[in-house]
Amino acid sequence: MSFRSVFIAIVLGFALVVAAFLINRQRPKVETEQPNAALVRATGKCAECHYNQNYSVVHEYELSVHARKDVTCLDCHQPAANQEKEEHHGFVIAKHLTAGNCRSCHESIYQEFLRSRHAAPAWAAVYGQQGLSPEQVTFSEQYQPGGTRRPPHPFVQLEGGTAMAGGCEQCHSVGRPNADGTIGSCTACHSRHTTSVALARMPTTCGQCHMGPDHSQIEIYEESKHGILFSAQRNLLNLDADPRKLTTRDMFVPTCATCHMSGINGQKFTHDPSERLSYYLANAVTAKRPNYAQAQAAMRQVCTQCHTAPLVNDVYTRAEKVVDDTNAKVKEAQAIIDGLHKDGVLTGPPFSHPIDFVYFDLWHYDGRTAKHGAFMGGADFVQWHGNYPMLSKLVELQSMADELRRQHGRGK
Ligand code: HEC
Ligand code: HEC
Ligand code: HEC
Ligand code: HEC
Ligand code: HEC
Ligand code: HEC
Ligand code: HEC
Ligand code: HEC
Repeated sequence: MSFRSVFIAIVLGFALVVAAFLINRQRPKVETEQPNAALVRATGKCAECHYNQNYSVVHEYELSVHARKDVTCLDCHQPAANQEKEEHHGFVIAKHLTAGNCRSCHESIYQEFLRSRHAAPAWAAVYGQQGLSPEQVTFSEQYQPGGTRRPPHPFVQLEGGTAMAGGCEQCHSVGRPNADGTIGSCTACHSRHTTSVALARMPTTCGQCHMGPDHSQIEIYEESKHGILFSAQRNLLNLDADPRKLTTRDMFVPTCATCHMSGINGQKFTHDPSERLSYYLANAVTAKRPNYAQAQAAMRQVCTQCHTAPLVNDVYTRAEKVVDDTNAKVKEAQAIIDGLHKDGVLTGPPFSHPIDFVYFDLWHYDGRTAKHGAFMGGADFVQWHGNYPMLSKLVELQSMADELRRQHGRGK
């Protein structure tokens, strides 16, 4: 072999090694670091078995910040205070995991979450105080007056247990009272094993529950400029950014989390979305919240990280008028129903007559939708899913009321 060919072989060989190194360096971190034996060892026995049994669970965990920070399977799965224990292949694990398994390392976030409507009030919206301790009710009422100290929703009785368990509860259990004395679930937004902020910042994550005609937030968002830009530019956003260092360089288009929870450009980030809400929009007749001024200022401060104040003022001025007008329309409908009750024309328990449903849909679907659309950039929702059906239902309601009065007159 000539010197020349040996030299070429060495150069080629070296070039290949460098190329392989460079290509490997381009691969995302998770791909080069995992899965390998060292990681499985680091996470202990659990992963070894479950890697084959439930690849998906272990893989989601491998993608998580927890795996990178050496939080192991057992760190979460070991029984926390007051949890039922279970023997499991030589380990003791908890039978059910709750927020109690996260709070050991994330106590201050848990405390913030407890003050939010995602905690006890979400549960009480369906079941009232049932399952909550008097201390839990008193605690929550301090932050969310009227949110927890209330009776169960009439639908619990009217629709029955399976409807509650398969429907309402799937969303409202974000604030379930757990057997270990804690409240709620952190995995509704973070998932069980990915446990990521990127996932929690996705609009679709909130849209699991914040959807449909009674709270069309995901639909409104998707038609707003914000949603349009998000779908066009999501690959340019840094959804993984550290919440404590998040800036508009990372998120120059807002998602639900940006407006309601994130601390962008040095603002405080929060697990209590009420901190930035100035109205009770979900109510039939919307009133200002006790912390109206402070909360609205906090939200406007988020908007002005990206916008000028005049644009934000315009949105709020217009939206506050929609709140006033919607209140007037709902009150008109309410007066018709109240009149029927007062005159003894409409009797019986709630939701026992078709007119009850027309009234309920008028505020619960259309009124809410108009108000939510006005604040979050959903013109179609203010009009065709809001004001138009309110108008048509008012006419329907009046005509049903007239007919009921006629029948009542004949009946006497
Ligand atoms: C020797 C294999 C093995 C080991 C080690 C192991 N598991 Fe399992 N695990 C299983 C199998 C198999 C199942 C399916 C249900 C069963 O048979 O218990 C399971 C089920 C589970 C479940 C679901 C239990 C339920 O009742 O729904 C959890 C959670 C779990 N394992 C977590 C862990 C954790 C955490 C560790 C480590 C502390 C671990 N496992 C160690 C094999 C193993
Ligand atoms: C951040 C905390 C956390 C870590 C870390 C974690 N888990 Fe889990 N895991 C959960 C939660 C929460 C559940 C849901 C349990 C429940 O509903 O009671 C769960 C459920 C499971 C289940 C049942 C899942 C199913 O779909 O049937 C298995 C199996 C499991 N974990 C195994 C593991 C293994 C193996 C590891 C480590 C590789 C691990 N977990 C790490 C929090 C965690
Ligand atoms: C043993 C302690 C421990 C437990 C238990 C634990 N975590 Fe963590 N968690 C951590 C650490 C450490 C980090 C990394 C924090 C950092 O980088 O500052 C972290 C980070 C996170 C993050 C941020 C991830 C990201 O994408 O940046 C989320 C979300 C999270 N945890 C949620 C949970 C949830 C939900 C549970 C319960 C199911 C849980 N954690 C249980 C220690 C824990
Ligand atoms: C798809 C998920 C989902 C289902 C199913 C669901 N809800 Fe809700 N519910 C929500 C969300 C999200 C809100 C918050 C709406 C808002 O603030 O605009 C809410 C708000 C409420 C409110 C008003 C807030 C309050 O605290 O007074 C009540 C009451 C309520 N729901 C009761 C129920 C009942 C009862 C059922 C079943 C008959 C049910 N929900 C089914 C997601 C759901
Ligand atoms: C598992 C279901 C679920 C998920 C996921 C969820 N929410 Fe909610 N959310 C609810 C329910 C239920 C309520 C109503 C609680 C009540 O007032 O009774 C609510 C209420 C709210 C409210 C109104 C709070 C108030 O003070 O009136 C805001 C804002 C909110 N959620 C934002 C978010 C954001 C942002 C996300 C995603 C990061 C999200 N939610 C994810 C179920 C969910
Ligand atoms: C309604 C959805 C929702 C629920 C429920 C929720 N989180 Fe979060 N969480 C978020 C969002 C959104 C962020 C990221 C905020 C941002 O954009 O900076 C976050 C961020 C975090 C972080 C990262 C904080 C940091 O400094 O790195 C941790 C840890 C965390 N959550 C833990 C929890 C725990 C523990 C619970 C239960 C007590 C919980 N979360 C419940 C939506 C949620
Ligand atoms: C550009 C910022 C922005 C984005 C993005 C955004 N919202 Fe909102 N949202 C608002 C404002 C402003 C209000 C009304 C605040 C007030 O009451 O002062 C509001 C109101 C709400 C309410 C009503 C609470 C009540 O009083 O009933 C809920 C629930 C909500 N948003 C959830 C979401 C969800 C879920 C998403 C994503 C699908 C989302 N928002 C996206 C700004 C935003
Ligand atoms: C993280 C940045 C960010 C935040 C926070 C934010 N926006 Fe935006 N918004 C944008 C971007 C980007 C556009 C598209 C701008 C363009 O077309 O040049 C936009 C568009 C808009 C538009 C449409 C303008 C038009 O006529 O096309 C309105 C209205 C608006 N935002 C209102 C708000 C309000 C109100 C808030 C706070 C509740 C808010 N935004 C919060 C980034 C943001």
